Formats: sequence, C-alpha cells, structure tokens
Amino acid sequence: MQFAARLESLGTESAFEVARQTAEWKAAGNEVFPFHIGDFNIPTPQRVVDAMNRAIENGKTGYCPPPGIPELREALADDVGKLRDINYAMDNVIVQPGGKPTIGKFILAVMEPGDEVLYPSPGFPIYESMIEFHGGKAVPYTYIDNGGKFLLDLDQLKSNITSKTSMLIFNNHHNPTAAESPHDELEALAEICMENDLWVLSDEAYFETRYEGESESIASIPGMAERTVILYTFSKRFAMTGWRVGASIGPPEVMEIIGQLNVNDESCTNHFAQWAMIEALEGGTEMCKPITDELRVRRDVARDLLNGIKGVSVGSPSSTFYLFPKVTEVLEKKGLRNSIELQEAVLKDTGVAFCPRSYFCTPLLDEKEHYVRFAYAGIGLDDIREGMARFKAYCEA
Ligand SMILES: Cc1ncc(COP(=O)(O)O)c(C=O)c1O
Repeated sequence: MQFAARLESLGTESAFEVARQTAEWKAAGNEVFPFHIGDFNIPTPQRVVDAMNRAIENGKTGYCPPPGIPELREALADDVGKLRDINYAMDNVIVQPGGKPTIGKFILAVMEPGDEVLYPSPGFPIYESMIEFHGGKAVPYTYIDNGGKFLLDLDQLKSNITSKTSMLIFNNHHNPTAAESPHDELEALAEICMENDLWVLSDEAYFETRYEGESESIASIPGMAERTVILYTFSKRFAMTGWRVGASIGPPEVMEIIGQLNVNDESCTNHFAQWAMIEALEGGTEMCKPITDELRVRRDVARDLLNGIKGVSVGSPSSTFYLFPKVTEVLEKKGLRNSIELQEAVLKDTGVAFCPRSYFCTPLLDEKEHYVRFAYAGIGLDDIREGMARFKAYCEA
C-alpha cells in the first residue's frame, strides 16, 4: 500500500508548529508569552452567542442548503457590497466553513494543472500549499519595506507574468506584514490583472479589523468585480475563529461551481451558526468596537516596546493584528543564520513565542533582511509588557 504522490506538494500552516513547541514548553512548567498565532483571548460578542443558542432552541440543527441559508447570503451580499460599494446579490455569495476553504475551492474552479499563479511571499502559507497541491506553479511576488510600511514590488510582480499565468492571489491588509495598498497601487495592480486577463482571489480576512482610515477592496475598482472572488470570514472581524463561518463572494458563474464543491465537501456549513451570523452582521462595526479598541491599545503598546529594542524596528499598521519587525541586526549580533533559529532560541530563553518569516511561504532567494511576526490578538496587555521586556533583554544581551 502507498500514499498518493500529490501529497509531496501539500504544505502546511507552520504557526501551528510554533503552537506545538509553545505548548510543550508550557507543559514543562515554563511561562509563555503567546504572540505566535492569529487567534483571540477576547470572547465572541454575547449577542452573537445568544443568537446561536436561540437558533439551536428553534431547531436549526439539521442540514441546510449547501450554498448557505438564503437569509445569510442576502445579508452578506448587502453588508459586503455596502462596505465595498459593489452591487452584490444572493447569487454572488456562497457560505463556507471559514475563510480558508475559498482558497482551495476557487483554485479548483479556475486553475488548470500547469497554470502559474501569482501569490505573496511573505504571505498566508495556504496559498502556496493549495496552488501546488492542485497541480499549479506557485510564483511569488513580494513587498518592499519602506521604513516599516510595506509596498508591493509591482515591477517584480509584472516581470513574473507569462502566457501561463491565470490567477493572482492578493491579500490587502496583509498577513504577516500588515501591508495595505494605497489607492494608486491598488489601481495599478487592477490594471495588470485586467491587461493579462487574470482571475483574482482577494483575501479580505482583515478588511474590517482596522484602527484608522478606511479599507479598500481591489474588487471595488471598475472592471474587477467580474474577475474577483473575495475570501470573506467572520473569524477575525467578530473574534470567532473556532466557529468556522465565512463565505466566497464573486461572479455567479464561479459561485455555482464553488457551491457544487460545497455539496461534495461538507454538504453545508454549520446551520445554527449561520443564523447567528445574521445577528453578527446586524451588530456590525458598532458591536465590534470594544474588540477593535482593545486591539488598538495592544498595537500601540507592542509597537512602541518593539521600537525600543536595539536592533529591532517596526511600522505602525492601521489594520490587522500583526506586527512584522525587522530583526536583521539581532540575528547578526547573535550569530544566527535565519529567523527560525531566532524564534527557537527566544522561546527557550524567554518563553516569548512568535513566528519566523519563513513560515509565511518559501522566502525569495535574494531576501537580505530578516523579519518575524508578532500577533497581539491572543495576549493581554500585562503579558505584552512582560514578554517584550524579556525579548528586549534577550536582544540586547
Ligand atoms: C490572510 C488570511 N486568510 C485566511 C485565513 C483563514 O481564515 P479562517 O480561520 O476564517 O479560515 C487567515 C487566518 O489566519 C488569514 O490570516
């Protein structure tokens, strides 16, 4: 008996590897400071929990339509459309068990084996994994660090387009760098997509997690909604990563295929959770204000403490809950070869857990600087302060 050869190209999300090491370190009796995973120590708003309990009591416990309950599809079309100034209807929306399933399902719907797909590196590791697993060629594009603000390297991106390129994966409000494109950069990227007739996966997991200004979607640029599928998730916006509800939002003909994949994969997304999501959308930004306010304070404290460490520098992102400091000088001083060595040494020395850059897709060959990602949604202010003090002591020793 043997396993399928395709498994050789299946990747993983290595933040879970840091989680494993951290749990092991904690079980051995050590104190840990969890900056490694994009999860919350903040509960889901009570109003949404109550709505889910009501849905169970009201018997919403059987199967429901594979594309999602019509009421939620309509509410999502309305909410997502309004926030992006796009006219979506119910047939533009297919409910999913979280944000992640949109990545593999959209790739399956439009990518032929052998096609080339542009994706961000650093970037969410599941892009590279799913492209390769489904027989495509993953072609990375990257960002330029402009004093802690990350901008797309559009020349490098353009130079990697060939006749085989069929799709671009884009994550404005970006994990792990927290990059977000200014309007002119978004327009330039949209033009490249239209000129080269590319499908676009717009991962908008952090669209609503923001502290200043307004989020913008590439799908809002004229001519783009027709070729773009939005990855929508309730996970980060409403502090409910474990509930597993999200949606694919895009052209009806793609949605029909994705809906058929739903039938084959999971029959339907959790029925009673879908009813609670209608309540979540009604509560919206106002209901989530306490979550955003707490995250903003954590961002400010963590950012200032990082910038107070010799050899570490970081910008001030307006969205996401990630900081992506440059740590090149620390590596050089300590004689470490890469950010994985730094992550492992810091965990053992201080209990501070974060993710190294190389856990966010394969690094490009010419990368000169080193980075790590600190997530602050799952760690309270006291632990942020103590963890950063320990990290500082390590870096400056
Ligand atoms: C950029 C990005 N996209 C998608 C996801 C997946 O979201 P979900 O947990 O809702 O599947 C994540 C989760 O961390 C993410 O960071």
